[in-house]
Amino acid sequence: MRVLICKDEASAIARAADHIAEHMAQRSDCVLGLATGGTMLPLYRRLIRLHADGLSFASVTTFNLDEYIGLAPDHPASYHSYMRKALFDHVDVDPSRTHLPRGDAADPVAEAADYEARIARSGGISLQLLGVGRNGHIGFNEPTSSLASPTRIKTLTESTRRANQPYFGSDETPPGYAITMGVGTILSARECLLLATGSAKANAVAAMVEGPVAAVCPASALQMHARTTVVLDRDAATEMKLTDYYHHVHPDGEATRFD
Ligand code: PGA
Repeated sequence: MRVLICKDEASAIARAADHIAEHMAQRSDCVLGLATGGTMLPLYRRLIRLHADGLSFASVTTFNLDEYIGLAPDHPASYHSYMRKALFDHVDVDPSRTHLPRGDAADPVAEAADYEARIARSGGISLQLLGVGRNGHIGFNEPTSSLASPTRIKTLTESTRRANQPYFGSDETPPGYAITMGVGTILSARECLLLATGSAKANAVAAMVEGPVAAVCPASALQMHARTTVVLDRDAATEMKLTDYYHHVHPDGEATRFD
């Protein structure tokens, strides 16, 4: 794993956005795996600024990690809505090339299998963007998810539902189930980029980077991925043991030639 520790949140966001922009510049036909959540909002704002400066999404295909079961695309708390508001409505992406699982599919099991097949038909994800949950989830792969799992339905933990309550109205609670890319789906991406900021993520980051590879921390499966970059701010990096080493290899979070 390449562990880049940036001096603050703004530098971590800039580093992650530059990484995505460089990837897009290198591959005209790139397939981006996209994530949602609070961490990604400033990253998408930064990408929108880069778009204003000339970064084009016109030939990019996107696949989001997950969607709540039971929410139609126009539900304000759906990830379809999140992506439109946070990114898609502000850049030149072709809407027909953006993909999220349909939370309102009549047959969510079939929808999950079809989503996995659509990713494969696209040629596979070239860069998968990821956040990490406080419980170590990636996508909605909650602790004890199979590390070989495909896209499927997962039952959300109470802690995840509580963490996402602010996106819902006071009279509504987050759904109990989601369709999510599996850990195996994520590991099939040619490259992964995980962004985590803030002290609330420090324990999950330490378990992901330095803990054993274990289903109890699904993000730890990224240790088995040959091309994963983890971009952190200092607050998210406080619980790791080898922080001095990461600073030595990548001063100020610079992506140096050798890891
Ligand atoms: P957050 O979510 O960015 O809102 O903290 C991350 C996640 O749960 O994957």
